Parts: sequence; structure tokens; C-alpha cells
Amino acid sequence: MKIGFIGCGNMAQAIIGGLLKQGVAGTQDILATTSKAESAKKAAEALGISVITENEKVAAEADILVVAVKPIFYEAVLAEIKEQIHKEQIVISIAPGKSLAWLGEQIGADKKIVRTMPNTPALVGEGMTGVCVNENVTNGDMAKVMQVLEACGKAEMVPERLMDVVVSVSGSSPAYVFMFIEAMADAAVADGMPRAQAYEFAAQAVLGSAKMVLETGKHPGELKDMVCSPGGTTIEAVRVLEAKGMRSAVIEAMKACTEKCK
Ligand SMILES: NC(=O)c1ccc[n+]([C@@H]2O[C@H](COP(=O)([O-])OP(=O)(O)OC[C@H]3O[C@@H](n4cnc5c(N)ncnc54)[C@H](OP(=O)(O)O)[C@@H]3O)[C@@H](O)[C@H]2O)c1
Repeated sequence: MKIGFIGCGNMAQAIIGGLLKQGVAGTQDILATTSKAESAKKAAEALGISVITENEKVAAEADILVVAVKPIFYEAVLAEIKEQIHKEQIVISIAPGKSLAWLGEQIGADKKIVRTMPNTPALVGEGMTGVCVNENVTNGDMAKVMQVLEACGKAEMVPERLMDVVVSVSGSSPAYVFMFIEAMADAAVADGMPRAQAYEFAAQAVLGSAKMVLETGKHPGELKDMVCSPGGTTIEAVRVLEAKGMRSAVIEAMKACTEKCK
């Protein structure tokens, strides 16, 4: 199975890295393109795969084709490779806001089209990807698609109407979490902790907390209650966070993100 990537930046490299590491594909099974020859050379050296600048060539050879350019370039790139795409190929989009219907208009609604929304933790094998497909994608195709997407984290099917929500809850949310980590570290620095150590303590606390949610299956509120001793220090911090509107700020921010995506 040949896996092609149109565009070989952050997201493509994260997925390719996962495919190679997990042994889902070998270096000879993966082809990619960039717009500039110098970035092709750099990506080829970093990944050990063939990276060229001819999109049509990769589109013609791939069994699964991941379109990994920025959303503003989608229309032009899809127009460029439209003639090479055939009915047996699976085309995966990773761009926010590009619907299955829109993608079908660009390359033909009779093609197998997969719309996904990954996130940057894919770079460290902990991505979360929302997936929906058009009616041409079979169960057999899905098994291959999931193998590709799960090479760098988790992937889950969602109805297309929820794809904009996936953008705010997992596509963009690493940015909010990084802000939270940075703010916690700033506070620790303000109270005398060296900065590098502050990032480590804050980030590890977030990592561990996320694992507790995923692994215990307990409600996040119950896990919060477990940390809050009566009359203790944590409930004081919780009181201030509630007074400053932390939950409301997160909810409003995510609603703005989903709206923008729509
Ligand atoms: N980053 C995120 O957090 C994130 C999360 C979810 C989804 N996404 C989506 O993933 C996609 C890729 O994002 P990214 O962060 O990986 O972008 P990126 O790092 O900027 O990479 C874009 C790649 O596309 C190449 N490219 C540009 N124009 C091209 C063309 N005409 N033909 C072939 N290749 C071309 C670039 O090559 P040159 O460098 O040579 O121009 C580069 O390799 C976007 O649609 C984005 O919305 C990103």
C-alpha cells in the first residue's frame, strides 16, 4: 500500500513519523511533496522517504492520499491533482472547515473521501483525530484509514455535523492547554521556582491529570473533589478560579472557536 502526502509540514511529518515508528509502512511505501525543493530535501533527510515537488506524480501513485497543505491552498492543490485521483484511491483531508460536500465538488463526489481533524500532539504520538467519511468509503477502506490515523495517536469516527466541535475540543485545544501550563509555570516562577522546573511540574501535572480522566473513567468533578481536602489549600485555588470565571472563559472561548470554524 502506497501512502502519499501532498504537503510535508508539521502534520504530515507527525503522521509519517508514526507510520514508520509503528511499522504500518516502510520508507519505500511513503511518498510526499512540498512546494519548494529545499523543503523537500529537508523533509526527505529528516524522514528517510522520497519527497518531491510534483503533486501529480504522488497523487497518481498513492493508494491513500493525505492532503496536508494549509486550508488556503486546498482549492488550488485539489484542482492540480484532480485528474490523477481515481475511484479506488482514498483521499484524506486534514483541513478544518472543508466539508465532504466541498471536497467532493473539487475532486468528484464519486471518489472515496475522508474528512479528518487531527491535532499537534500527534507529533509525540498522542494525537486525537476526529474522522467522517462519504458514502463511497467501505468498511475495508476504513480499516486502512484508521491504521494510518492511529499511527500517531487515537482516532474516532464522529458525525460530520460535529467536525467543527472537534476543531475546538481537540484540534485547537492544545493551544489553550499550553496557555494553562504557561500560566501555572508563571505563578510558580513568581513564587520562586526556576522556570524550567516550573514547566516540568506544570506539564507533568496536566499529563497525569489527563491520564487519570482517561484511565479511571471517573467524572472530572469527582477527581477534582478528591484533591480538595476540607478547609484545605486546593479548594482555595478552586474558589478563586470560579470567582475569575475560568469555566465560563473556556466555554466561551470554545464556542467562539466552533463559530469561527463554521
Ligand atoms: N498544525 C496544527 O495544529 C493542525 C491541526 C489540525 C489540522 N491541521 C491542518 O493540517 C494541514 C497542514 O498543516 P501544517 O501545520 O502541517 O502546515 P505546514 O507545517 O505549514 O506544512 C504545509 C506543507 O504544505 C506544503 N505546501 C504548500 N503549498 C504546497 C503546494 N502547492 N504543493 C505541495 N505542497 C505544498 C509546504 O511546503 P513548503 O514548505 O515547501 O511550502 C509544507 O510542507 C492544514 O490544513 C492545517 O489546517 C493543522
